[in-house]
Amino acid sequence: MEKKNIDWSNLSFAYMKTDYRYVSDFKNGAWDEGRMITDDTVTISECAGVLQYAQTVFEGLKAYTTQDGKIVTFRPDLNGERLENSARRLEMPVFPKDRFVDAVIETVKANIGYVPPYGSGATLYIRPYMFGSNAVIGVKPADEYQFRVFTTPVGPYFKGGIKPITIRITDFDRAAPHGTGHIKAGLNYAMSLHAIVDAHNQGYDENMYLDAQTRTKVEETGGANFLFVTKDGKVVTPKSDSILPSITRRSLIYVAKEYLGLEAEEREVYVDELKDMAECGLCGTAAVISPVGKIVDHGREICLPSGMDEMGPVTKKLYDTLTGIQMGRIEAPKGWIYVIE
Ligand code: PLP
Ligand code: COI
Repeated sequence: MEKKNIDWSNLSFAYMKTDYRYVSDFKNGAWDEGRMITDDTVTISECAGVLQYAQTVFEGLKAYTTQDGKIVTFRPDLNGERLENSARRLEMPVFPKDRFVDAVIETVKANIGYVPPYGSGATLYIRPYMFGSNAVIGVKPADEYQFRVFTTPVGPYFKGGIKPITIRITDFDRAAPHGTGHIKAGLNYAMSLHAIVDAHNQGYDENMYLDAQTRTKVEETGGANFLFVTKDGKVVTPKSDSILPSITRRSLIYVAKEYLGLEAEEREVYVDELKDMAECGLCGTAAVISPVGKIVDHGREICLPSGMDEMGPVTKKLYDTLTGIQMGRIEAPKGWIYVIE
């Protein structure tokens, strides 16, 4: 398929309809064999579980064009595994991870003309999701579900690309202990919308959420995990049962240790420690690694020594190595890269 005529280098992180999407229906206790369709709309009952009680979970991953012209995706098996866990927590049927990976690959293949070229700075974002589709009026799980995958070409998640952003510590909570913060459920994002609109209105790019129980520990943002570098060069990421287990973050910890020879650990990170950090970044599929230059804690400014102009040096090395692996410039660990075409 020919490349679509798109201004790849000026894409933002926005939805663009592409040609095909994958659909599989769950009815009478089983998933059907699935199919590729062109219709980008969904018709469901006005009383569907997803519309009334937010029974929906999703994933996010990307397809990349590598330096030598292959189309690849990054660790889709881990997204499949996470969607299985998300579904279990919301009493939804599991869409098996092997079928998930096949569906992702098929959907990218069907939309291959939308995969941005190497070096354009853009990627093809892949959005698998599932939802309760039949009518439920009492509070209970639906009996019927749809699993779908669509794709959309995207540019950077934050407007400035890799320019450092300013975030604030918010008084809103994202997730409760023993709640749903560790799964990728739409409900976690719905309840973050007021906090992000308020943050933007106050001039901040994002919110730093704290642990809801003690409000002393760093959790994550609405759409990414945190990564810090201490003044002695150690990479640290917050450990918590109520944050999303980011595939990017887990990959970066491996890259830090095995490719860069750095010390890296996942541990609780206290708000009190922020003033002593050398670098801070947000990591995730959409965010990649977005550097943080300033954290504002109720008027108190914590300025990271790496500043507001550039990524810190360790963050930059992590960024270059991870994106190098994804774009085929650096050899990947076994099993990380799935070649689509
Ligand atoms: N945390 C939240 C709340 C997210 O929405 C995301 C995005 O998927 C992440 C973290 C990063 O996870 P991943 O690296 O698997 O994309
Ligand atoms: C992702 O990084 O894939 C996300 O889901 C984050 C955001 C777009 C919700």
